[in-house]
Amino acid sequence: MTLQKDLVSGLSKKKKTIPSKYHYDLQGSKYFEKITQQKEYYPTRKEKEILQKISKKIPYIFKGPLSFVELGSGAADKIKILINKNVKFYVPIDISLDFVKKSAFKLKKKYPKLKIKPLKIDYSKAFKIPNFKKTTKVCFFLGSSIGNFHDNEEKKFLINIRKSIGKNNYIFVGVDLIKNTRIIEKAYNDRKGYTAKFSLNLINIINKNFKSRLNINNFKYIGIYNKKIRSLQGFLVSKINQSFFIKNKKIFLKKNEKIQVEISNKFTVKSFSNLAKSSNWTPIKYWLDKQRYFALFLLKS
Ligand SMILES: C[S@@+](CC[C@H](N)C(=O)[O-])C[C@H]1O[C@@H](n2cnc3c(N)ncnc32)[C@H](O)[C@@H]1O
Repeated sequence: MTLQKDLVSGLSKKKKTIPSKYHYDLQGSKYFEKITQQKEYYPTRKEKEILQKISKKIPYIFKGPLSFVELGSGAADKIKILINKNVKFYVPIDISLDFVKKSAFKLKKKYPKLKIKPLKIDYSKAFKIPNFKKTTKVCFFLGSSIGNFHDNEEKKFLINIRKSIGKNNYIFVGVDLIKNTRIIEKAYNDRKGYTAKFSLNLINIINKNFKSRLNINNFKYIGIYNKKIRSLQGFLVSKINQSFFIKNKKIFLKKNEKIQVEISNKFTVKSFSNLAKSSNWTPIKYWLDKQRYFALFLLKS
């Protein structure tokens, strides 16, 4: 129902949109994992570089038993860098449950003593983080997902987690920084075309859910960085005049009409610190990679 409601609402607008969370069926999650392995896609590489740098410091930053909660955990690849013997629980939270269950299963093999509880939650709505007694909660929101919200919804998201985890707990947030347009656009238009496949998969998702017969070849993907609003915007462009139904609602697409399917807002250290403070978090520290492309922030509630 939500998919139907969101599609009808987004595709009825003058500037058509589809929320990026709908990319992540099992196939979409697999394409995203491929994107992260591409040379042009610097965010994963840079964030991992920072995580490697801080991994030895974790036992000094947080004392005693810990529970790790990761929002939008996907392949749960980065968390492995930080798990140590003080981590008693790991809760991967994602909208793509099948994918996350698989990742959790792999992780359990590597860390048999770790208690892992994968959860399907849509974090764009109000949600509650499970309460583990006698552990410090450390949340993770990695992969520059903080840039994927429309209309300042990131503030609501940060406020909600702050409320949910209570005082004296923590969150690490991975933040993509403003940089040269060419570098950003290359990252979101990789040469092997995985970003395009990832976005075009939305057409398959529409066909599957609404028995439409849209031809994927009648669309193309483009990723453009809008410097003025510090945002990478991904679009599906209709190559022809076409129409389709979402239940009873007929949607028309003109030739060359764009549907915005991706948003990746970029920050400065200052703009993210201000966002954190205005969401009732206290920035404790941040780390940068060598090229200063990416920042990892530690915030305290
Ligand atoms: C940009 S990927 C990041 C994946 C991983 N954290 C990383 O750093 O590589 C976003 C992840 O968040 C999940 N996701 C996207 N929107 C979501 C939502 N509204 N609620 C829960 N999970 C969501 C996706 O399924 C995907 O695994």
